[in-house]
Amino acid sequence: MVSPRRLEPLSLKVNGSLVLIGYGYFKLFGKNSLENLKSGNLDFAFKSEHDLGLSFNIRNFKPQDLDAVIRINLMCLPENYTSSFYMSHYESFPKAFYVAEVNGRIIGYVMARVERGLSNHKPISIVKKGHIISIAVLPEYRRRGVGRSLMINSLKGLKDYNAEECYLEVRVSNTPAINLYRSLNFEIIHIIRGYYLNGEDAYLMSRRLDFLPEDCTF
Ligand SMILES: CC(C)(COP(=O)(O)OP(=O)(O)OC[C@H]1O[C@@H](n2cnc3c(N)ncnc32)[C@H](O)[C@@H]1OP(=O)(O)O)[C@@H](O)C(=O)NCCC(=O)NCCS
Repeated sequence: MVSPRRLEPLSLKVNGSLVLIGYGYFKLFGKNSLENLKSGNLDFAFKSEHDLGLSFNIRNFKPQDLDAVIRINLMCLPENYTSSFYMSHYESFPKAFYVAEVNGRIIGYVMARVERGLSNHKPISIVKKGHIISIAVLPEYRRRGVGRSLMINSLKGLKDYNAEECYLEVRVSNTPAINLYRSLNFEIIHIIRGYYLNGEDAYLMSRRLDFLPEDCTF
């Protein structure tokens, strides 16, 4: 198991100036790693970010996870909910509520529910639809596949409830989340103007659930 390492800035020299290109983990690669990077070894930069796998566990939410989930939500998102909101989703749709943990510490969650409504994919049909309510991963554990695994498990859970499709809302500025959903075959259905409290628009994104991603092996 590779435990999370300290994040270091990755910068490259471009026309004599240092340009920040992201953050990486260097402990495994020795002290000279940063120097290698600054000298322009871009391959090394990507290796640093992607070759260090993170060993995490995905499991269904349990009531004792509530405080940790609320903390992550408060830390990561402006959309916050009451304890009873989380618990009612757990009680009604436990198969779609997952947490990710590293060494027993909760580092991410996804909560979803099933609704009935107009299909986003079939003409004028009322269907059972999964709805991703909230997903977040602690910043230091991002970009390691945790969000993707949480989503895949939740989609499987929604399918177990016979949901035919799944939709969600996402801020139009939230590129990481939009990319995550696109990578899971969600497509933008339409824009909801002024959906968020600060007036920002949302994309409504949706996908059918009749097939799930290839790496959905659990
Ligand atoms: C969105 C979020 C849950 C993604 O979690 P994550 O664990 O980092 O996601 P993954 O590592 O599984 O990333 C899967 C894919 O999503 C996309 N992605 C994730 N983070 C990205 C970023 N910062 N920039 C661009 N694409 C990104 C990539 O396509 C990525 O695949 P790749 O790493 O192979 O390129 C996380 O960024 C987060 O918690 N954000 C704050 C809360 C939030 O915005 N929630 C969504 C509300 S709608």
